[in-house]
Amino acid sequence: MSEPVILTQGLGRQFAGKWAVQDLDLAVMPGEIYGFLGQNGAGKTTTLRLLTGLLQPSAGTLCIDGLDHRTGSRELKQRLGFVPDTPPLYDYLTGRQYVALVASLWNVPRRERDDRSDQLLDRLGLAEHADLLCKGYSHGTRKKIHLVAVLTTAPRVLLLDEPSSGLDPMSNKSLKELLLAESARGTTVFLSTHGLELAEQICHRVGILARGRLRAQGTVAELRHQHAERSLEDVFVAITQAATP
Ligand SMILES: Nc1ncnc2c1ncn2[C@@H]1O[C@H](COP(=O)(O)OP(=O)(O)OP(=O)(O)O)[C@@H](O)[C@H]1O
Ligand SMILES: [Mg+2]
Repeated sequence: MSEPVILTQGLGRQFAGKWAVQDLDLAVMPGEIYGFLGQNGAGKTTTLRLLTGLLQPSAGTLCIDGLDHRTGSRELKQRLGFVPDTPPLYDYLTGRQYVALVASLWNVPRRERDDRSDQLLDRLGLAEHADLLCKGYSHGTRKKIHLVAVLTTAPRVLLLDEPSSGLDPMSNKSLKELLLAESARGTTVFLSTHGLELAEQICHRVGILARGRLRAQGTVAELRHQHAERSLEDVFVAITQAATP
């Protein structure tokens, strides 16, 4: 039996005395695609920032790929790829130069980098944008270029904050195919999404977060079964409403 790649126990984070995320126990297995659902302000981005190490926890423990965040933070970051909702690209680099910069920071050999990035740029329909400056990119193009950069580093753990927001339907389809391919080769994927369709189509398990706490998790089929076979949307609404005082 393999060990969880993302393991948190009692993980929590406070801002100004108020818990944004509390008592979070997660165990995400190798190659699993885990989708985090929750209303605006539920704590999804806070959780992702805790998992990346960008934010320090106020409580609990966190292990990624067997490394404790307190002792192994440098190696841990090497194994992670993070796609935030609004990626910070460099305005005066082209997309291709940005991908090359990220790959060089991760020590990806040049040949491997070129092979992987050319293929990814093509799959995401970015070939004609790749040699233009990032400052002129649309929101969706920025996201896709950053996704290419991250995937070029071949992370063991891929963390994505609302990966499909801002993507056109063709790009969204490519995104889903890419994430399924990553999962098939053993990459563990943890993503947040408001897109229930994305969750239903590609996530092996989903977790529903409300007011900073994990209220339910399982496969979509399990969650629907526990709620009289209602739609995932109805399940989401019922769980979120039950957590509202
Ligand atoms: N840096 C911060 N300082 C103060 N409060 C914060 C900070 N970051 C997040 N919060 C608070 O933590 C809570 C959770 O926010 P978070 O951004 O994690 O939600 P979310 O689930 O990602 O929401 P959305 O769907 O809108 O992206 C919110 O109440 C938010 O105001
Ligand atoms: Mg968010």
